[in-house]
Amino acid sequence: MRKFYIASTAAFWILVGGLWLIGFSQPRTMAEDIKVKKSYTLADVAAHASPRDCWMAIGGKVYDVTTYLPDHPSRPEVIEVWCGKEATTAYETKMKGRRHSGTADQMLQGYFIGEVEN
Ligand code: HEM
Repeated sequence: MRKFYIASTAAFWILVGGLWLIGFSQPRTMAEDIKVKKSYTLADVAAHASPRDCWMAIGGKVYDVTTYLPDHPSRPEVIEVWCGKEATTAYETKMKGRRHSGTADQMLQGYFIGEVEN
């Protein structure tokens, strides 16, 4: 009985150790490992041209600003017409010759989803 107890305890810990080693040998799937570099054409961007699904190309980068639209301080139509479009000039001028603030630039980075494909 004692032998059986020792053998089954040993088998248990060998199994645990084996699973632990298998865990180490698996490829890691942390966020930075699976972050795939994405690029989109302007046609891809154009497929997201509504306020419920709003992508913009700004400065060679693509942003999904859907969730930001309700918070934008202008009248909705000022920004919504740029959904699905190349909006660099619109963003850089606010359509009235004034740049967005540094805060706006920083916020924008939070909506980055990929590069514009050439
Ligand atoms: C591309 C089309 C866009 C247009 C035409 C546009 C236009 C405007 C206008 C008219 C204002 C209010 C008046 C003013 O501050 O001068 C404004 C303010 C603002 N916009 Fe936009 N906007 C655009 C996109 C964006 C995006 C994509 C973001 C961020 C994700 C953003 C962030 C802000 C912020 C934070 C303000 C407050 C003022 C500032 O920080 O500059 N806008 N924008």
